[in-house]
Amino acid sequence: MVHAQDSTAAAGAAPAGGAGGGDAAKGEALFKNNCAQCHAVTEERVVGPGLKGASARHDFAWLSKWVRNSQAVIAAGDPYAVKIYNEYAKAQMTSFPNLSDDDIKGIFAYIDKAGTAAPAAAAAPAAGGATSGGSASAQGGGPSDLFVLVLAALVVVMLLVLGVLLVIVSLLSKAVGTETENVNKGDFMARLGNSLKGIAGDPAIRSATIWIFVLLVLKATIDGAYNVGVQQGYAPKQPIAFSHKLHAGEYKIDCNYCHTGVNRGKSAHIPSANICMNCHGVIKKESPEIQKIYTSIENNQPIEWVRVHNLPDLAYFNHAQHVNVGGLECQNCHGDVEKMEVIQQRSSLTMGWCIDCHRKTEVNTKDNKYYDKLVQLHSGESKEALKVADIGGLECSKCHY
Ligand code: HEC
Ligand code: HEC
Ligand code: HEC
Ligand code: HEC
Ligand code: HEC
Ligand code: HEC
Repeated sequence: MVHAQDSTAAAGAAPAGGAGGGDAAKGEALFKNNCAQCHAVTEERVVGPGLKGASARHDFAWLSKWVRNSQAVIAAGDPYAVKIYNEYAKAQMTSFPNLSDDDIKGIFAYIDKAGTAAPAAAAAPAAGGATSGGSASAQGGGPSDLFVLVLAALVVVMLLVLGVLLVIVSLLSKAVGTETENVNKGDFMARLGNSLKGIAGDPAIRSATIWIFVLLVLKATIDGAYNVGVQQGYAPKQPIAFSHKLHAGEYKIDCNYCHTGVNRGKSAHIPSANICMNCHGVIKKESPEIQKIYTSIENNQPIEWVRVHNLPDLAYFNHAQHVNVGGLECQNCHGDVEKMEVIQQRSSLTMGWCIDCHRKTEVNTKDNKYYDKLVQLHSGESKEALKVADIGGLECSKCHY
């Protein structure tokens, strides 16, 4: 009970509405697990209306009836209920008969508290994601940019030299031909032919030509090797026309709601059909694409999504390490997924790509006691900020079993 009192005091700063006196901390977990997929704590519309101010719009008796069984409130002819039901295209809200009065009070205490703090906080990560996403896609993958530039310059020079040599060789063979067939063409051609023969016969030039060919072949091989298995831009057709643009973009459903593993472990997870049913049990049932979800569940056959991102087995990558500990946005590595109709691989996923980011990125040490000691040690040795490379991000064994 002491705990409940504490958080009520904390929530006290928020406007006290019809549901005053709830445990906002407990409410937060309940809201995130049950309501967040359809509602924002701000005024923003997700699947249902934004809940900011809902506790002021309604008394607690109405709220608790509505949350436990909104269909009953609508069926009873409550004018407000009928109005929003029609306004939201008769999308049925899930019923929560198991939530107690305390639970529901807690949820609205949390909404009141978060709703007043949210607008600024909600805008910040969105902007951050957009900018960092942009810089990440500009980073590209594979060998470093300078290396590529030098190679490219070399190739251009080689091609020029090669071109000149080819012209010389063709002139030479023509000259040799004219010499034997038509001596009348005159001294000039003959002399030119002779001197060119001299050049082509020069061992230095002959070995230079050979070297140029060897280097060209080498360059092509290196390029090829760097790109073996690289699938940047890969965007296969999926068995159901699921759109991230619609779900994550327009309806602003949180990535974590479907990709439940990102904060907890190695894999992000592809959602099971049951997660789709949380909404599509009621939303747009008649669509043939949605019917495919039903078929999958009836036949007990998982939907066969085509895998897009795939590292070779020899490399180890962990989502929680990057998203939860590192504080990176999905967009840093996956691009602006919320704008993609069909999901596409935006980063190269090569070793060079991982290393490049580990060299450049500062470790997120804020609010993380684990790093305090390291930061202290590091600042003694160097003036630069602590980078992922400094905590072992370049060690082979961290990424290879
Ligand atoms: C599957 C989506 C969905 C879920 C989950 C959901 N809601 Fe709703 N909610 C809606 C929709 C849609 C409406 C609009 C009315 C309608 O169409 O029935 C709504 C309306 C409301 C309203 C009335 C809003 C207003 O402006 O007066 C409240 C309050 C509400 N929901 C609270 C909750 C709470 C609390 C939870 C979690 C315990 C929750 N909802 C979970 C979809 C959902
Ligand atoms: C409503 C559920 C849902 C939401 C929300 C969602 N996704 Fe997805 N995601 C899926 C499904 C289903 C797939 C597999 C089908 C596909 O590739 O389109 C998928 C696939 C992906 C893939 C490719 C997986 C592979 O095969 O390599 C990435 C990356 C991804 N999502 C990132 C995100 C990000 C980032 C967000 C938030 C901006 C997000 N998703 C939000 C359901 C969701
Ligand atoms: C949080 C709620 C929610 C979840 C979870 C969800 N969707 Fe949706 N989905 C929607 C809404 C809202 C629409 C838009 C419906 C409309 O256009 O009226 C939609 C539309 C769609 C459409 C387009 C249907 C059409 O014919 O226009 C498809 C396909 C779809 N969803 C597939 C999925 C799949 C597959 C999953 C699970 C991986 C999923 N959805 C999970 C809310 C959700
Ligand atoms: C540091 C880069 C990075 C970040 C940040 C990142 N991912 Fe990934 N993601 C990857 C890589 C690399 C793979 C391929 C993993 C593999 O094949 O083992 C991947 C694979 C996936 C997949 C396919 C399924 C799986 O787990 O292999 C999904 C879905 C996905 N990511 C979603 C997300 C979401 C959602 C976020 C944000 C919450 C996110 N990712 C953040 C790099 C990243
Ligand atoms: C967008 C930048 C970025 C990319 C791309 C990236 N990482 Fe990381 N990585 C980080 C950050 C930041 C951390 C530090 C997280 C922390 O604080 O522990 C990290 C940490 C790690 C660690 C733990 C290192 C240690 O010493 O504890 C491993 C292993 C790792 N990454 C593997 C990979 C692999 C494999 C890839 C490529 C498939 C990859 N990373 C791509 C940013 C990135
Ligand atoms: C930050 C993570 C990371 C670190 C550190 C790292 N690697 Fe890798 N490595 C990868 C990834 C991811 C791949 C697979 C992608 C690819 O083939 O480009 C890979 C691929 C490889 C391959 C196979 C190449 C191929 O074409 O199949 C070898 C060999 C390799 N690494 C050796 C090393 C050695 C040796 C070190 C230490 C000096 C090292 N790696 C450090 C992430 C890393």
